[in-house]
Amino acid sequence: MPDSQEKNLSAEDRPRTKLPEAEPRGYFEGESLTRRKVFVVASQALGGIAGAAVVLPAIGFALAPVFERGKERWEAVGTTKDFVPDTYKQVVFTETLGIGEVGKTTAYVRQGSEKYGEDPTEYIAISSRCAHLGCPVRFVQAAENFICPCHGGVYDFIGKRIGGPPVRPLDRFQTRVTENHIELGPRYSVTNQLKAVRTRDPGEFTGGIWEYLYPPRPSTFPPP
Ligand code: FES
Repeated sequence: MPDSQEKNLSAEDRPRTKLPEAEPRGYFEGESLTRRKVFVVASQALGGIAGAAVVLPAIGFALAPVFERGKERWEAVGTTKDFVPDTYKQVVFTETLGIGEVGKTTAYVRQGSEKYGEDPTEYIAISSRCAHLGCPVRFVQAAENFICPCHGGVYDFIGKRIGGPPVRPLDRFQTRVTENHIELGPRYSVTNQLKAVRTRDPGEFTGGIWEYLYPPRPSTFPPP
């Protein structure tokens, strides 16, 4: 159409210049993002940040204790001369600091005995906490057994259960000799073969499927 004729046409009737089709649809040529897309991405990012601000502290609060290990505590309970292999000596020591008398516990300590395949240079410390419900057991020298007064639990000389309702041997404490002093450390539980495992609460098993039905306490994992 000649220019003179085109000038006489109204704005609606003038032929329009066809803009090139933008690809993908909805974008202007040369655009890499639509405004809608920018807002969608920005709102999703803000939503993600807000969600993380709520969820991450909760996850951290729940999981942090699993990676937290309490500081090991050792306490001297006598010298090497105080303990012999054929009987136990009762000692009281502080297992948990800062909670007064409640943090104290009782252990029965003796020297390792060749009669039971133990090294005489080692020392055995057996917890007085019954593996059934936690009553204090007593070592009875005449019977060479540990007897629980609550429900009749009986353990042999090395702490293995031989009668009554307990489900495992008595717990033990780690021991070490420092300049002729016997020191007791963290508590641990043992299987029926006296293999060390993480500390269990009274009533918990140390073998079979049952051991997996109780989640470990963070402060007692992994075993010594
Ligand atoms: S608490 Fe020891 S037998 Fe029950």
